[in-house]
Parts: sequence; C-alpha cells; structure tokens
Amino acid sequence: MFTQHSMQRKTIQNITPLHLLLVVLLTIVLPLTACSSQPIGNPENGERWFSLYRCNGCHGENGTGGRAVEIAGLEMRYSGFLRKLRNSRSSVMPSFPRERLSDQDAADIYLWLRNSPVNQQLGS
Ligand code: HEC
Repeated sequence: MFTQHSMQRKTIQNITPLHLLLVVLLTIVLPLTACSSQPIGNPENGERWFSLYRCNGCHGENGTGGRAVEIAGLEMRYSGFLRKLRNSRSSVMPSFPRERLSDQDAADIYLWLRNSPVNQQLGS
C-alpha cells in the first residue's frame, strides 16, 4: 500500500509542470486556431521536421543557438513565424515556400519550439 501511494505521488510530481504547461498552451493555441486557419500543431512531428528541414543546422539541435539566433521557446506569434518562413528577408536564412514546407509542418515546428524546455524551465 505504502509503495503504491508513493508511486502515485511520484507520478503526479513528474507530470505537473509539463502538463500544466501543455494545458496552458492548448488553451492559448486552440482558441487561436478557431479564429484563424492555423493548423493544430503536433510538437512531436515538429521535432522531426526541425532536423528534416535542417533548421537545426543553423539554429542548433534544439533551437538553442547554434550559428543563428536562439528560437527555442520563441515568443513570436504563429502568423509572424509563418511569414518569416515563407519570406525570410534574410541573406542567411532561406525562405521555405508552401510547396516545400506545408502549413501543417510549420505549425508542428512552431508548437514544438513553443513547448521547448526553455519555456518549461520558466514555468517551473
Ligand atoms: C542557413 C541558416 C538557417 C536555416 C537553415 C534556418 N534559419 Fe532561421 N534564421 C537564421 C538566421 C541567421 C536568423 C536571424 C537573422 C534573420 O532573422 O534573418 C534566423 C531567424 C529565424 C527566426 C526569427 C527569430 C526571431 O526571433 O526573430 C525564426 C522564427 C526562424 N529563423 C526559424 C527557422 C526555422 C523554423 C527553420 C527551418 C524550417 C530555419 N529557421 C532555418 C538562419 C537559418
């Protein structure tokens, strides 16, 4: 009985900060998706796309620096993020047209960046 109880407590302790953050993010992101055409992101895919599209080559493995600016936990809105991807206006960062990187993939990457441990540290 005692071990079961302490296991339960451990599980709850492990879950709390991460899940609270997810709940908070979802409450922010879901209403946004309702009034714009923003696809619902899947952060697990986002992590995959981030290396598939070679974002990591410049922004670092987890978006934390590397050769370019840190974008882990970024604070810009999805619309600004998408604008940056579609037309980077940069001599360094390439643009990613929709044929190459879909809106869905962009939303996945966006949510993954927003879910980054950088933000989770702030939240705990
Ligand atoms: C060849 C290097 C390179 C690649 C590849 C690259 N970036 Fe960038 N990115 C940069 C540089 C340099 C900047 C900062 C200067 C600028 O804004 O142009 C930047 C800026 C950004 C910003 C704006 C950050 C801010 O705070 O204003 C976002 C968002 C971003 N990149 C996302 C991405 C994503 C997502 C990918 C992959 C799909 C990607 N980048 C691929 C070099 C790169």
